[in-house]
Amino acid sequence: MDEGSFREKLLSAQVKTVYSSGEEAGPSPYTPLSISVLFPGEKITFDLYLKVAKKERRGFEFLPFLQEGEAWDRQWLERLTFKGIDRLYFRKNDLEHLIAYLNNYLQILKHQSKKVSPALLAVFSEHLNFSVRRALQLPRLGPAVKEAKSHIENLIGWVQHDPGAIKMMWKILYHDYNLYNHSLNLCLMGVAFLLNLKYSATECRDLGVSALFHDIGMTRIPQEIVFKEGPLTPAEQAEIRTHPELGHQILKRKVGNSLSSLPKEALRLTLEHHENADGSGYPRGLPLNRQHPWTPIMRLLDSYDSLTVNRPYRGAFKPFNSLKILKDSHGPRGPIYDSQIMKNFITFLTAD
Ligand SMILES: [Fe+2]
Ligand SMILES: [Fe+2]
Repeated sequence: MDEGSFREKLLSAQVKTVYSSGEEAGPSPYTPLSISVLFPGEKITFDLYLKVAKKERRGFEFLPFLQEGEAWDRQWLERLTFKGIDRLYFRKNDLEHLIAYLNNYLQILKHQSKKVSPALLAVFSEHLNFSVRRALQLPRLGPAVKEAKSHIENLIGWVQHDPGAIKMMWKILYHDYNLYNHSLNLCLMGVAFLLNLKYSATECRDLGVSALFHDIGMTRIPQEIVFKEGPLTPAEQAEIRTHPELGHQILKRKVGNSLSSLPKEALRLTLEHHENADGSGYPRGLPLNRQHPWTPIMRLLDSYDSLTVNRPYRGAFKPFNSLKILKDSHGPRGPIYDSQIMKNFITFLTAD
């Protein structure tokens, strides 16, 4: 069977394609990639796979769809989209190739037009997402922080130039939970929110960078706990609660002597992002007046994102319902989320 007919068969009605949220759980050697960031007409520099249900057996498998060196044809985008498929998979070993490929596409899009487009933002966010993944696997974080800073400066420039970019950005937020999607969502929302509150570009950038790495401690929590379907036992909850302190230690170690490259807020926000406004949070139970001024912002964005994405054990809450849940969240000594920030966030989300 030649390559073409093989793909035809894969796209035929008999083959059942599958995907699910939380698909990074477990030791899969494949990572999903949104097909909207593939460069039409250009050769791909890595193999792409389709996730399909196994015939008459439980589970799924990854079948080759496009090989390195083949061009990405727009017809694949249309036909896959028609079948309800929005992603293909690449091998984790190809992460470097993928980042270089996205960077190339991003540079071309940036030069093509000064205007922000959905394609530019999609490639930008996927590139930043995968760069953060790579960064978390490397022993040194300094170069990744520098790269993230310049990326976020670009983003701030786009939003300042065209406020409509925020609306576009809302559409590219990831809807499936994994650590990297969550971190990137927080970064994008945080930058947009602070710009809306008229913070300086430097402050917006520094909060954005801090958001990218705020949950780095979660990389040390066993995957079975992170992706557990159903309620956690008290021991598992206690384990999860160690991630702010773990993250703080990892960040200090990973930035080493290049500590200056990391915004000074990042260490504190990593440590404090689960502290509540009424002092009932963790790890230290700090009252609001002893928290960093950006801590309650991160706390709110973090919970908002957790509610509005799909989890392995439940669907996503709608934005309105999520805001209501957060507004009604009370600890033993008062509201969990700072009420002024809550008000500003609602105004921001509901603005035209
Ligand atoms: Fe966290
Ligand atoms: Fe988080």
